[in-house]
Amino acid sequence: MASFFDELVEEHQTIERVVGALRSYLAARAQRAADESDGERFVTFFRVYAGAWHHEREERQLFEALTRLADLPGERGPIAVLTRQHRTLEGFLEQLSQSLALPVWSADDALTATRRGDAYADLLLHHIDAENSVLLPESQARLLPVDAATLVSRPHTDEETRALALGLALAQRYPPTQKASLLRGDGCVMCPEYTVGCRGLEREWWSAEEWERLEQGVGVD
Ligand SMILES: [Fe+2]
Ligand SMILES: [Fe+2]
Repeated sequence: MASFFDELVEEHQTIERVVGALRSYLAARAQRAADESDGERFVTFFRVYAGAWHHEREERQLFEALTRLADLPGERGPIAVLTRQHRTLEGFLEQLSQSLALPVWSADDALTATRRGDAYADLLLHHIDAENSVLLPESQARLLPVDAATLVSRPHTDEETRALALGLALAQRYPPTQKASLLRGDGCVMCPEYTVGCRGLEREWWSAEEWERLEQGVGVD
């Protein structure tokens, strides 16, 4: 059975595919070559599957376990940054949904929709990179003894099952595209919040013992 952490990584892959499909859809719709009603389907996928299912489990289960069981700070550092990004993403999605709900786009509407879609997609991909490369591996190591017992996913609701099916169908209909200019990568240094809202994993999460081990390691070299 896949672990809670494996499930989150797998969900990131699904969300990322639908982000790529959203970019393709926005480009096609700006050319009047896409079904207007699919806009609402994208919004449903991101609101229900990425939000109510995925982000909610990260916050209510993973972040809760990290603060309660691993004694990590929730009001600053990675947990605060990633929680804040979930709220920012909800706001960006709300703005995008207003563009997608317009039945006919003028040239200005198309530009606004593309800008809003980019803002949502870019932040979501940076967010996924930060979680895949830093949050999840570091959390797994810190929660290893409680992983199996505490971090178990609830079943999908019917609405979540339908939202996932919508997202997968959209990714078939609009083959995902990447934004070549978006700089992505692993580690704290690639996170847009590094040094702005977070001082990096070591300064935010490491205990005195961990710093000591590092110093001893450096001494041996
Ligand atoms: Fe997240
Ligand atoms: Fe995530």
